[in-house]
Amino acid sequence: MNINFENRLIAELEELKKAGTYKRLRHLTSPMDARVDMEEAGDVVVLSSNNYLGLANDPGVVKAGIAGLKRYGAGTASVRFICGTYDIHRELEAKLAAFLGFDAALTYVSCWAANEGLLPTLGTAGNTIISDELNHASIIDGCRLAGARTVRFKHADMLHLESRLREAEGTAFVVTDGVFSMEGDLANLPEIVALAERYGAVTIVDDSHGIGVMGKTGRGIIEHFGLRGKVDVVTGTLGKALGGAAGGFVAASSAVVETLVQRSRTQLFSNALPATVASSALAAVKTLEEHPKLIEKLRANVAYFRAGLAALGFSALPGESAIVPLIVGETAFAIAMSDRLLAEGVFVTGFGFPVVPEGAARIRIQLSAAHKKKHLDKAMAALQKVGKELGLI
Ligand SMILES: Cc1ncc(COP(=O)(O)O)c(C=O)c1O
Repeated sequence: MNINFENRLIAELEELKKAGTYKRLRHLTSPMDARVDMEEAGDVVVLSSNNYLGLANDPGVVKAGIAGLKRYGAGTASVRFICGTYDIHRELEAKLAAFLGFDAALTYVSCWAANEGLLPTLGTAGNTIISDELNHASIIDGCRLAGARTVRFKHADMLHLESRLREAEGTAFVVTDGVFSMEGDLANLPEIVALAERYGAVTIVDDSHGIGVMGKTGRGIIEHFGLRGKVDVVTGTLGKALGGAAGGFVAASSAVVETLVQRSRTQLFSNALPATVASSALAAVKTLEEHPKLIEKLRANVAYFRAGLAALGFSALPGESAIVPLIVGETAFAIAMSDRLLAEGVFVTGFGFPVVPEGAARIRIQLSAAHKKKHLDKAMAALQKVGKELGLI
């Protein structure tokens, strides 16, 4: 062991602890749901999961995963093009494509892998990727791996995007989150699509926080804005509303998907989504299709919680998604606040630098269709107590 190196890491970790910015893993001993059992804090209401539709512990989703495991075993112990792929992958991909209104889809072990596979494959040398500055880290890293020149545009600034489009070389790819994960706001997709059409650009939307949440039937931000058929490529996760286990996908034209099968490195050099996860994700999509009321429940919970926060004197960032951020200031303050809330039986994470800019640390509240009024009321009472204690309200 290299002692100097180890000591350097230990010193850096100590610095994080001293600054109050050290992240601690919490250990759950029950399935993800409106509330969970946590080793460190007991019975807690969860306001920090992307389990937007409450499907992570849905009996049908769990049953489908068990059936998938029994039928297919753990996996093929190799990548798909070398060792074959399961029929359940094909079925899930066809379902995702049809659900979102695309010709085809391709799954990956995560949306991180999907973004990191997609962007370098499409964004080859001589072309330009134009990326919203607040895009998810997986998009940022995907851009870093691309041969194309990447330029950022100021968050949601359409004039800046247009100036970037005017200067672009080769094919321009405009890439944006659908729902921004730290702000909870929506991309201005109508304007982005119009600009892309005007400048002949390709549009790529990562709708990880939009699918299952936005749009009348949960098909995401494209449905929300009535833009079906107008966006070229969508990426998404199966690790949030659609079952919550893991997995990601790209939905696009057949030519894009075939190109990814041939060339994307996170597909060619990495194992498939486990068949058990593919099985439960397929069940999650079918459940969403059959029970659109889940989305109504989620929206009612968001409205109830936002109104409650406002009545308590909190001013959450506005937005239409299921993400409700409370900006509280410094990173250490946000982390200390989430610790206090945990002691009051509410699990909600404080996010700070470098995930968000220093000074804009936040408590990111996420609502779920699984929450009942009693969960939301308990969470609100804790927020009132801790908010008063910390001088926020
Ligand atoms: C916008 C966005 N894209 C991609 C991802 C990564 O998804 P996954 O957990 O499937 O890798 C996330 C997860 O945090 C996300 O918020």
